[in-house]
Amino acid sequence: METYQAHETAVIDEGCVIGEGTCIWHFSHIMKGSRIGKNCTIGQNVVISPDVILGNRVKVQNNVSIYTGVICGDEVFLGPSCVFTNVINPRSAISRRLEYQPTFVEKGATIGANATILCGRRIGTCAMVGAGAVVTKAVLPYALVVGNPARQTGWVSEYGHRLKFDAHGHAFCPESGDHYRLQNGKVRKEE
Ligand SMILES: CC(C)(COP(=O)(O)OP(=O)(O)OC[C@H]1O[C@@H](n2cnc3c(N)ncnc32)[C@H](O)[C@@H]1OP(=O)(O)O)[C@@H](O)C(=O)NCCC(=O)NCCS
Repeated sequence: METYQAHETAVIDEGCVIGEGTCIWHFSHIMKGSRIGKNCTIGQNVVISPDVILGNRVKVQNNVSIYTGVICGDEVFLGPSCVFTNVINPRSAISRRLEYQPTFVEKGATIGANATILCGRRIGTCAMVGAGAVVTKAVLPYALVVGNPARQTGWVSEYGHRLKFDAHGHAFCPESGDHYRLQNGKVRKEE
């Protein structure tokens, strides 16, 4: 018996692994060899191409296409109509199937609505990509980036709040109270 739910209009190819508690909504297509973790939500009209990997508790909003080469960690949020790419110089007449570049979206990161992620980049843990951004470079963990090309405008906490670092490189999240440290241009959460 299946331990996930899929709307009757969803198409799930053979050879996919879909975790317990995951929900797949109307008109979505999950292609062969893809692996989706537990308790994920796959919205309406989503395409998940062959061999894509999604962690646990990933939320994919409506109209997202996740192409071969994309790997998302746990608790990633993919906003509505955001766009991945897997070929940097596509031509219709030339096959680039062996040249797909991997894109990693690390645990807890958010991609805003309608953002575009060029392939071969890494979006760090808990990073936030603003709506409509075009990501052309790696995004650091906890970084907030916006615009085209995307530029870093700040840092955010695990809960998605801006972090305001003091002169000692110390900040806290107003919602969770967690403490963060900015050192050598990188942010880490203090345990
Ligand atoms: C990027 C984001 C997190 C910033 O939120 P914020 O910290 O509240 O930002 P503010 O609204 O205070 O804006 C700060 C500045 O950034 C600009 N800005 C905000 N969002 C922007 C975006 N997506 N792209 C470009 N600039 C943006 C604002 O115009 C403002 O500029 P200014 O200082 O020159 O006036 C938010 O705007 C965003 O894009 N969230 C994603 C929403 C989304 O896609 N949700 C999907 C689920 S429905």
